[in-house]
Amino acid sequence: MDSSLAEFQQVLQQRIDNKLNVFIAAQESAAENLSEAMQYSLFAGGKRMRPLLINIVGQMLGAQQDDLDVASMAVECVHAYSLIHDDLPAMDDDALRRGKPTNHIQYGEATAILAGDALQTLAFEIVLNAPLSDDAEHKRIEMAKILANASGINGMCAGQSIDLMATGKEISISQLTKLHQLKTGALLQACVSMGAVLAPKVDTAHVAALKRFADKIGLAYQVQDDILDVVSDSETLGKPQGSDSALNKNTFVSHLGLEGSQSFLHNLHHEALQALSSLPHDTTQLVSFTDFLVKRSN
Ligand code: IPE
Ligand code: IPE
Ligand code: MG
Ligand code: MG
Ligand code: MG
Repeated sequence: MDSSLAEFQQVLQQRIDNKLNVFIAAQESAAENLSEAMQYSLFAGGKRMRPLLINIVGQMLGAQQDDLDVASMAVECVHAYSLIHDDLPAMDDDALRRGKPTNHIQYGEATAILAGDALQTLAFEIVLNAPLSDDAEHKRIEMAKILANASGINGMCAGQSIDLMATGKEISISQLTKLHQLKTGALLQACVSMGAVLAPKVDTAHVAALKRFADKIGLAYQVQDDILDVVSDSETLGKPQGSDSALNKNTFVSHLGLEGSQSFLHNLHHEALQALSSLPHDTTQLVSFTDFLVKRSN
């Protein structure tokens, strides 16, 4: 990662973790075990790529940092929930996540399911209740709509469902693309949209360019995830390498081969940068983020 982006990411990671801690500490839950299971996954050392994207897009467009942090906290709760459920025996049945036992290994399946459920609702509590600036106060509903749309039947859950239904079956490359755009792309697209919604005023042509950019990186993120499942190792990944082939998953590597997937990723990278080039803003950090995303090793 480019050093200025790495510094930005470290500071952001710390800030988001602190704010999530404060928000969760204020929730007086009677279910201590559930609260512990939620925190176990939320603070397990995720890269916080989605908050990074929200903050870079939002700051580029003039949004306020504290408002962007609220969106970031909410997205990380949805993301953490999606991973807890993704690892369950009924889904990918994985035992390692972020270098630690998965939530259901640590707390049992029932608690892991509830921890995912409660993290999902916590995301919306954050969007609806966390303090926002006066300028952003009226944007809560729009933020909730973006997040709900990206997470549920039109987004991540739909992608996960198609993924499971397609496992062990032949699907077309366009179905695979759709699956990846939904299961992973939708939430990344929501990050770009929330960053833009929290900005004071954005030209519609610029929003359209950002949507094109988001489409490309949303897909690229999962293509690189598929590649890493083949070329990396479990220690670097913090999750089991080879999980996709063991489960006979449809991935870009299973469809296009390793080289084919790498060249597809290269094209997506190029198209993402092209979409950014029409923006009049300083896109330096967004370009670095995009470069990192396709080259990341975990
Ligand atoms: C992993 O997401 C699952 C995908 C959607 C590809 P990340 O690679 O962002 O995972 P963490 O949050 O850094 O662990
Ligand atoms: C992740 O897909 C999609 C989610 C919505 C969580 P994967 O199943 O490929 O993610 P990893 O590889 O387990 O992180
Ligand atoms: Mg999965
Ligand atoms: Mg998985
Ligand atoms: Mg994967």
